[in-house]
Amino acid sequence: MAGASLSAPSAATSPAPVPSLKRRVCVVGATGYAGAELVALLARHPRTEIAGLFSSGGRSSVRFGALHRSLGGRAGPAAVPLDVDALLEDGPDAVFLATPNETSAELVPLLLDWAPELSIVDLSGAFRLARAADYPAWYGFPHPRPALLEEAVYGLPEWNGAALPGARLVANPGCYPTSVLLALKPILPFLDGAQPVICDCKSGVSGAGKKTDLAYSFAELAGNLKAYGAGTHRHEPEMRQQLGLADDAPFVFVPHLLPTVRGILSTIHVAFSRAVGEDEIAAAYEAAYGAAPFVDVETPGRLPELNDVVGTPRAAVGFAMLPGRRAVVVSVLDNLLKGAASQAVQNYNLVSGFDEAEGLS
Ligand SMILES: NC(=O)c1ccc[n+]([C@@H]2O[C@H](COP(=O)([O-])OP(=O)(O)OC[C@H]3O[C@@H](n4cnc5c(N)ncnc54)[C@H](OP(=O)(O)O)[C@@H]3O)[C@@H](O)[C@H]2O)c1
Repeated sequence: MAGASLSAPSAATSPAPVPSLKRRVCVVGATGYAGAELVALLARHPRTEIAGLFSSGGRSSVRFGALHRSLGGRAGPAAVPLDVDALLEDGPDAVFLATPNETSAELVPLLLDWAPELSIVDLSGAFRLARAADYPAWYGFPHPRPALLEEAVYGLPEWNGAALPGARLVANPGCYPTSVLLALKPILPFLDGAQPVICDCKSGVSGAGKKTDLAYSFAELAGNLKAYGAGTHRHEPEMRQQLGLADDAPFVFVPHLLPTVRGILSTIHVAFSRAVGEDEIAAAYEAAYGAAPFVDVETPGRLPELNDVVGTPRAAVGFAMLPGRRAVVVSVLDNLLKGAASQAVQNYNLVSGFDEAEGLS
């Protein structure tokens, strides 16, 4: 972790509560793709004040307007190399981590040990899996604080909203899992457990974060489309866990890299255990999302596309019935918003007792 100071802060610098009508927040990883979107949302959130922005020790004083075109040239405050003492001295009520998995895994226990009253929304996968034993195989490191896996609330607000108020630690879902779970959870009771659910998912390149590898260069991506990580992507155990599927249940997830910057489109093939009517499936989606501010349900037969949602905090789900007790479900979202930053703000709003849509409408 290049130069970032994750050492325990000294006792003399424990956080002093700062009275404020607005909640004070810090963002770590503010110079990344997801973090920058988060800063843009928090900067216009009416009940939030940005107390501090942090990045790795590899850079210093990065101003956002110059870094991300999507922020419309807003200068914003400077992000400084992470120092835990400095972060706590900023007196945050909440901290967002838009950092790599290993960084979040190390930082969350440190922050909660020193400031147990903090709310943390972690955008990484470090607290999404329930079993610590899964971390070495899927994430490549032993989990440093398994007890926090039990405490973490999986932040899919449309399904776990009741568990969010007052939560100390929210594991913000992965971008592919958000898209797949929103599509599948309403119709789980209709599915034939003996037949595979096949998730053919495609993501824009920003889903991989800032990368300099050859595989992510323009010449390799433009005009191309490729599958990767079949059976080995770390979002698969997250989806199985949230769908209540055993490790050996027939479930296929194949991600693809789209030659576009942002957006996820998941095409999901399902089989039903009995003859199910289009109206029953439509009713199941309506019951799940009729009151959800950020999930649109298409009329039966209309399948959503990336242009419906890119640049917005909304996901959209549509389905078409197929012969032989089958259907195809298509789910779309912006990986940097509903797949990351705007979902993190939804979670933060619910944790804080605000309206779920505060700062997002
Ligand atoms: N991209 C997506 O669509 C997406 C969607 C859902 C979830 N996520 C998750 O969100 C997190 C961030 O993803 P991203 O795509 O935004 O990554 P990214 O573009 O690579 O940005 C990573 C950020 O973390 C900072 N950072 C790295 N190491 C650090 C350290 N040791 N201490 C403090 N800051 C550190 C980086 O700072 P520098 O700029 O100084 O290097 C940068 O601000 C990841 O866990 C990712 O899995 C991403």
